[in-house]
Amino acid sequence: MNRKKIVAGNWKMNMTIDQSNDLINELKLISENNVEVKIAPSFTNLYKAVAILKDSEIEVIAQNVHSEMRGAFTGEISTEMLKSIGVNTTIIGHSERRKYFNETDLVLSKKVKASIENSLNVIFCVGEELSEREKDNHFELIRTQITNGLLDLNSDEIKNIIIAYEPVWAIGTGMTANTQQIQEMHEFIRGLIYDKYGHDISSMIRILYGGSVKPNNAKEIFSLDDVDGGLIGGASLNFSDFNSIVNAANG
Ligand code: PGA
Repeated sequence: MNRKKIVAGNWKMNMTIDQSNDLINELKLISENNVEVKIAPSFTNLYKAVAILKDSEIEVIAQNVHSEMRGAFTGEISTEMLKSIGVNTTIIGHSERRKYFNETDLVLSKKVKASIENSLNVIFCVGEELSEREKDNHFELIRTQITNGLLDLNSDEIKNIIIAYEPVWAIGTGMTANTQQIQEMHEFIRGLIYDKYGHDISSMIRILYGGSVKPNNAKEIFSLDDVDGGLIGGASLNFSDFNSIVNAANG
């Protein structure tokens, strides 16, 4: 199955509005061809990002969303708010949300459900800590994260999910998982989708790798059978690196 690759930049808590606008104006130069390009600026930059990119194929996505539709949840942003400014996809379950903001599997599954119910597509992140890998528990942990976060969605709903495998020990550390570690985990994740939803869905669902993807390793990672692109942190913050990574996905 020929799955279109995705390169998504997760800007995390970086960029003032001026810095964001400058980078987005440069990103308009990216030629995408066979790649879906997405960027996830912070909430304060989303509205303007959507406006600048309105004639571009680059999609502006959110880094997070709340599970309730509205109400007394100070500081939170709802699916409806995102949709109302033209944002149609959000990241959910990034390891930094799990770790620093105590987002449990239960919280995350509520966010996933709320998003899907409100037609917001989801990039759902999973990944193990180094200690789990050292105990040889990484496959079980990923199974649990995928089962708790996604597997009560029905076959129509799961089609709106993109999965990102991001080993926590590779995020922002310059340490990338090796190609064998990446391919075997992606294959395992696709197998979990196969067991629940069957061949057609498991062969169309896209699984991104994240964790220190850089211009010098992107091509090798993207050439792996079950890797359908990348979720890029640090290297998405400057045009030249991000553009090289998009080109690597272009083949
Ligand atoms: P990194 O971050 O590319 O800086 O390692 C990836 C991510 O957190 O999505």
